[in-house]
Amino acid sequence: MNAHANDGHFAPQLKPKDYSISFGEFVGIGPNGNLWVEDCDVNDLAEKFGTPLYIISESQFRYTYRAFRDAFRRHYPSVEILFANKSNNGLAIRHIMNQEGAGGDCFGVNEMYLSLLAGTNPKTLVLNGSNKQPEELEMAIANGVCINIDAMDELDLIEEISARLGRNVDLGIRLKLDLEPLAGRTGVAMHGPGTLKQQSDSTKWGMSRQQTVAIIRRAQSMPRVRLCETHFHLSRMSNDPENFAIMAREMIAWSAFIRDETGWIPDCIDIGGGWTFGKWYGTGPNGQLDDDRAPTAEDYARLCSAAIKEETARYGLPLPKLRLEPGRALSGPSGVAVGMVGAVKEGDHKKWVNMDLSTNHLSWAAALDWYYHALPVVDAAREGSEIVDLVGPLCNSDEVGPHRKMPPFKRGDYVAFLDTGGYTESCAARYNAQLLPATVLVSGNRAEVITEREQLKDVAGRFRVPPRLLAASFAPQDRESPSIIVTP
Ligand SMILES: Cc1ncc(COP(=O)(O)O)c(C=O)c1O
Repeated sequence: MNAHANDGHFAPQLKPKDYSISFGEFVGIGPNGNLWVEDCDVNDLAEKFGTPLYIISESQFRYTYRAFRDAFRRHYPSVEILFANKSNNGLAIRHIMNQEGAGGDCFGVNEMYLSLLAGTNPKTLVLNGSNKQPEELEMAIANGVCINIDAMDELDLIEEISARLGRNVDLGIRLKLDLEPLAGRTGVAMHGPGTLKQQSDSTKWGMSRQQTVAIIRRAQSMPRVRLCETHFHLSRMSNDPENFAIMAREMIAWSAFIRDETGWIPDCIDIGGGWTFGKWYGTGPNGQLDDDRAPTAEDYARLCSAAIKEETARYGLPLPKLRLEPGRALSGPSGVAVGMVGAVKEGDHKKWVNMDLSTNHLSWAAALDWYYHALPVVDAAREGSEIVDLVGPLCNSDEVGPHRKMPPFKRGDYVAFLDTGGYTESCAARYNAQLLPATVLVSGNRAEVITEREQLKDVAGRFRVPPRLLAASFAPQDRESPSIIVTP
């Protein structure tokens, strides 16, 4: 367990708030009719910290984590939750996860660095990635982070680095599961067109059966290597929890195959992320996929645990430790993004409500047609009376919330988008030289900045003009010369 694990000790009391309308346990309509996050009026937060603004509820994060963890604990004897850091890279978030006892899925050297910087127990971290560089392997080996192999030559690098450092290595293998039962199933086109199996097959991830056996055999001959886990990430492609049970089942079938071929029995299977969450008002890809009918952590836990137990019994294998890497299911519900209304424009057939919040800040709205539920911050229960497009200021169509039934908005009003705690700040872009928003962490009636708002100097300061271009632009010109020649 994490050295900082202390279930409950650091945590605030997690009694859900009593709102007139609840959008989560700690997000809802407060006593003055405005949208509140915990005990903070979102209108006050927007006034104080400016917009666009990301808000994270600490209690919601902790609550969601515990609910997810406990659902799996109820069904399975040995479970470790590794928060998918990519969904929210904030250092404060990592501290919260550490205090809750969560490990972490680190994708690449910087996520690993941030986790180590936050003091996460390295033994609860895994390093994933398809193109690991010597620098990141060295960081993982020096700190004892488990490396999930995803390329044949990684072992060469690992052997060289571990010998040089005189350190042992914890190793996992990312599998390329066959997933035949998913050949007839379809879902969200997360990885391009095709059935779920075709999508999974077409991604760059994972090692084939033959490659897996070759890696294990070689690792078995390396004295510094300890084989730790097999790994797979199905990703969020449909709302059917049975897909995850099929995946978990096949992890065990591969364990039996690995045992028969190499003698090694994986004592831990890491079944990745992709776990979703639903809301009564709708969220998620392709419009509103994730509503009341979306699977809960309890559904996933029940089906996956039963599948693993059944398969291990069938193959005569011991029950492995189960690792999960939830990202959006933990971070998503804790976030609210707020934009301020600017120009409200009426066309012949359409109305646009421009905001300072853009698809730079909620990039999945553009990339994945992601639905984030929107509502006014003030008098938040107001019924919508007109259909508008909620748009950002970028020079693409920048539809953050197309075709929404909203109350009339005017310049200066605030609009909130719910369930934005995952893959928003960590995916935010700077298109049109927009500055990245601030993030505030709310705990009870306290609100603290955990990511500073970007300044113009942060954007402009990274640009350089080569001296030859400066000279061509600004050096006194010879008036006689017909033109300036700038050699590319
Ligand atoms: C290896 C791995 N684990 C976990 C996750 C987290 O996925 P999610 O946020 O859908 O739970 C991802 C997402 O890309 C991933 O690639």
